Amino acid sequence: MLDKAVIELCKDVDWVGMPHPDLKVFDDLFPTHNGTTYNSYLVQGSEKTALIDTVKAPFADAFFTKVGEKIKPEEIDIVVVNHTEPDHSGSLGRLLEINPDITVYCTKAAENFLKQLLNRDFNVHVVSDGEEVDLGGKTFRFILAPYLHWPDTMFTYLVEDKLLFSCDAFGAHYCPEKIFDDEIADFSYDFFFYFDCIMRPFKDKIREATAKIDGLDIEMVCPSHGPIRRSSGKGAISAYKRWAAPPPQGEKPRAVMAVLSSHGNTAGMADVVQKELENHGIEVTRFALSDMRDDDFRNALEQADLFLVGTPTIQRDAPPQVWHALTLISSVTPKARLGAIFGSFGWSGEAVKMVEARLAGLKYKLATDSLSFRFTPTEENLAACRDFAEQVAGTVLCEE
Ligand code: FEO
Repeated sequence: MLDKAVIELCKDVDWVGMPHPDLKVFDDLFPTHNGTTYNSYLVQGSEKTALIDTVKAPFADAFFTKVGEKIKPEEIDIVVVNHTEPDHSGSLGRLLEINPDITVYCTKAAENFLKQLLNRDFNVHVVSDGEEVDLGGKTFRFILAPYLHWPDTMFTYLVEDKLLFSCDAFGAHYCPEKIFDDEIADFSYDFFFYFDCIMRPFKDKIREATAKIDGLDIEMVCPSHGPIRRSSGKGAISAYKRWAAPPPQGEKPRAVMAVLSSHGNTAGMADVVQKELENHGIEVTRFALSDMRDDDFRNALEQADLFLVGTPTIQRDAPPQVWHALTLISSVTPKARLGAIFGSFGWSGEAVKMVEARLAGLKYKLATDSLSFRFTPTEENLAACRDFAEQVAGTVLCEE
């Protein structure tokens, strides 16, 4: 079983990670259908020994016992922190108590985060992109890969053995019975789900990071969660490249319009706005927020040059379906951050301003001033909708 196993990847390189098979929700955020693992790797050169990442704090004792099968923790020279999130740095504080002479190799952002995660002094070596360190026949090359998925992240490449330690990238929340991909059943669903939940908001950064490892001779991809890619490392990297590809360029600018309309008045405004945008050559994909598949909406956002929200005001607030749609924005990489808001209200009309504030918080720029009316739009109001759409279209076409 993995909880007691130390598994050799190649001579003097071992997996010393910990399984967490009964984890149901990762970080209190994402469901894990098959648990996870916290992968840590021990690399022993002729002169120095290094750990690459540690494990989540509750597993520290079992982890130290495993590492102790190969070397006393007091004799470890280096801990490479590819990423500081506590599922990987959670045992580092305890390890530094045992062995305060360890030097942590990490990025500048990771150093800053660790200072406040550990709240103690430690020896640190901040690495630069492409820097190498030789442990004695085992050479690490550090490849900065920021925002995969935190500002602190990097890859570590073991030159002689051609192993890429990629931390969260190319990982999966999947707790296998055996650690190598060629010994277990297909886990592609969990691999994609992990990308979709954790990596998808950083597609541009994924493109930059995967370009950096183009041409690198890679025998295995060794992530920090789930199976080690002994036979499918190139496939995992290719999948990330495919999923993070830039959105296709359509012939026309595209708009996503998300509308909720309790009594048909906001929908009536949306009809006019949509028609006018289409008259200006903008392709509109419209979602009724009361009956929407999240994935369709997320995919459309990644291809849209404009995001319109049509919202009523219900009980002095935007309705939950509107707020839900807005929460999905940070789960993807929107193509553009240009928005426009409209809506009809009955009593007080706060929703449009609230949505404005939310979009501003998400770094959206407004294509024009928001538009709202009380109850049923008059002919005059509908003419204002046409003007609104004309101004929005002008901004979109200028940004093209
Ligand atoms: Fe597996 Fe971002 O921590």
